[in-house]
Amino acid sequence: MGSAETALALTLTARQASDFELLANGGFAPLGGYLGSEDHQSVCKNMRLTRGEIWPIPITLATDLECSVGDVIELSAPNGKQLGRLTVSEIFDRDVELEAEQVYRTTDSEHPGVAAIREEGARCLAGSIEADALPDHDEAFMRRYQTPAESKASFEERGWKRIVAFQTRNPIHRAHEYLTKAALEICDGLYIHPLIGETKKGDIPADVRMRCYEVLMDNYYHPDHVMLGVNPGKMHYAGPREAVLHAIIRRNYGCTHFIVGRDHAGVGDYYGTYDAQRIFDDIDISELGITPLFFEHTFWCHECEGMGSAKTCPHPQESHLFLSGTKVRELLEAGEKPPHEFSRDEVAQILIDAYANEEESATDG
Ligand code: ADX
Ligand code: MG
Repeated sequence: MGSAETALALTLTARQASDFELLANGGFAPLGGYLGSEDHQSVCKNMRLTRGEIWPIPITLATDLECSVGDVIELSAPNGKQLGRLTVSEIFDRDVELEAEQVYRTTDSEHPGVAAIREEGARCLAGSIEADALPDHDEAFMRRYQTPAESKASFEERGWKRIVAFQTRNPIHRAHEYLTKAALEICDGLYIHPLIGETKKGDIPADVRMRCYEVLMDNYYHPDHVMLGVNPGKMHYAGPREAVLHAIIRRNYGCTHFIVGRDHAGVGDYYGTYDAQRIFDDIDISELGITPLFFEHTFWCHECEGMGSAKTCPHPQESHLFLSGTKVRELLEAGEKPPHEFSRDEVAQILIDAYANEEESATDG
């Protein structure tokens, strides 16, 4: 800058910075900026951009900032870091209710994704972005950070051709480990790609989860066949539509396969257990560019003495260990380890310590 003229500037929220990062690093290819009104409608109604490509969730920039079409707006991260700029091509009111109905399949404000778009509001700026830098992340994330170009180069270096990606917003428990290893049996490599952008209250924070992933990388995953990265994206909790977005992001990171298990990216009872698998029935997988691998609900079976699903375990439900997320949280809050069959002891210990520290700082403060 350096001129007397006041540049337009916008400090992005953490959620907006997440979108900026995936636009800037190639994770959201083919998008090169924030969607305009026609694309917003088209994505909501047809799950496609106006120019044709499959796109499941609108990536929009909602803001009240006063500006005009043609303006260039300097964008910064919540911590003030300069990220780049947006050239405004359109200012429009998105149809928030259409987005709720079509993308989230509900207009209930209790749904965290619907609540988030209502809170952001309708007024959006569209336009392409130019990136100078990416948002900062703590060291625990940066040591695993890769752009899509970097993960592709790592896969190539390792000679991996079939690479399965695993999305998660949770600590990796036994069920997750089982899915990832079953998928790895038919692939060359596994890319564990936890989401580290904003999640809802009650979800385990990303820094605590990173400690869980690292301990599993050190003790239970084969270093020659498993890589851990991070996805700077935020959660929408859009279930089926988000499963498609998660797949597209991993395609962009160079993966060929993508795990979709029970209630992928779901919350509460908004989606059926396998809705996030069924949505792929109407998608041409060669057009999508990544193959989903579907898994049934899996559990520990005391009689099998191992993990299984309705497909592989013949025993009655009484033999199956099932713990709801709420139940696990209750155990952790009481300082009790979830059973060994639910979670590796090392992971359980990290979670217990995190809960204990949280209570300490809550009572300290
Ligand atoms: S999320 O992104 O889908 O919200 P989550 O951590 O809950 O993340 O799950 C990660 C992946 O594991 C998803 O594909 C989900 O469907 C799958 N998954 C989680 N638990 C189970 C389970 N017990 N059985 C089968 N699939 C599961
Ligand atoms: Mg889940």
